[in-house]
Amino acid sequence: MTTMRFDDLKQYSDLLRARSGHHVTVRFVEPRDADALQNYFRALTTRSRYNRFLGATRELPPSVLDQFIHIGEADRFSVIATMLVDGHEIIVGEARYAFEHGSIEFGLSIDDRWQGHGIGKALLKNLECRAASFGADRLFGDTLRSNEAMIGLARKSGYAFMPSPNDWKLVRFEKPIDSDIGDIPCASWKLAAASRHLATAPLAG
Ligand SMILES: CC(C)(COP(=O)(O)OP(=O)(O)OC[C@H]1O[C@@H](n2cnc3c(N)ncnc32)[C@H](O)[C@@H]1OP(=O)(O)O)[C@@H](O)C(=O)NCCC(=O)NCCS
Repeated sequence: MTTMRFDDLKQYSDLLRARSGHHVTVRFVEPRDADALQNYFRALTTRSRYNRFLGATRELPPSVLDQFIHIGEADRFSVIATMLVDGHEIIVGEARYAFEHGSIEFGLSIDDRWQGHGIGKALLKNLECRAASFGADRLFGDTLRSNEAMIGLARKSGYAFMPSPNDWKLVRFEKPIDSDIGDIPCASWKLAAASRHLATAPLAG
């Protein structure tokens, strides 16, 4: 488990560039994002919401929204991908990941209007880097067998496929995490590496 500074979440923000050239910031969700995040989920198409939550839902139930905005509880984290449009920060995607038994399980979504621009791929790479910062050895998710977009994204990103142990309607995609990920820089990884270095540095004396 990484040593995170929950009093200073901004330092874990990353600026990514999607294939389309758009600049996207990935940052932890904060309590002030609650309304914008709920509106983001409401604005997804029914199909995207179904695919994201593996079932029909119009919005996040209040208790779940509360979990989304309190990052780090039970080693669960939510990030949003944002862009500046006409000077306003808008949410164009989100991901939630959980660290358990040395693995990271995740789910993600991209606003329907912004799908197909390479943002999902960039966000997934960023999640791999965040997973490495925990010292996780694998990253995995489950998706509906009918979800061609997620299966296509996972395939393109080098994930292996297997039946999900929990539900025959789902397929699991999984990838080992390479901790030597210098080509996917992210703040979480650099900060975790720095704190590991500090912890192992010999005391001056
Ligand atoms: C799955 C999802 C996150 C993909 O995000 P995205 O930003 O549209 O994906 P990208 O533009 O980064 O595409 C990356 C690759 O994924 C694959 N892909 C994306 N959309 C696809 C589609 N509709 N069909 C097949 N493959 C697709 C392609 O290989 C693509 O690479 P290419 O453009 O070079 O061909 C997005 O469709 C989404 O939010 N869906 C609804 C929620 C969901 O299904 N979440 C998954 C739950 S785990």
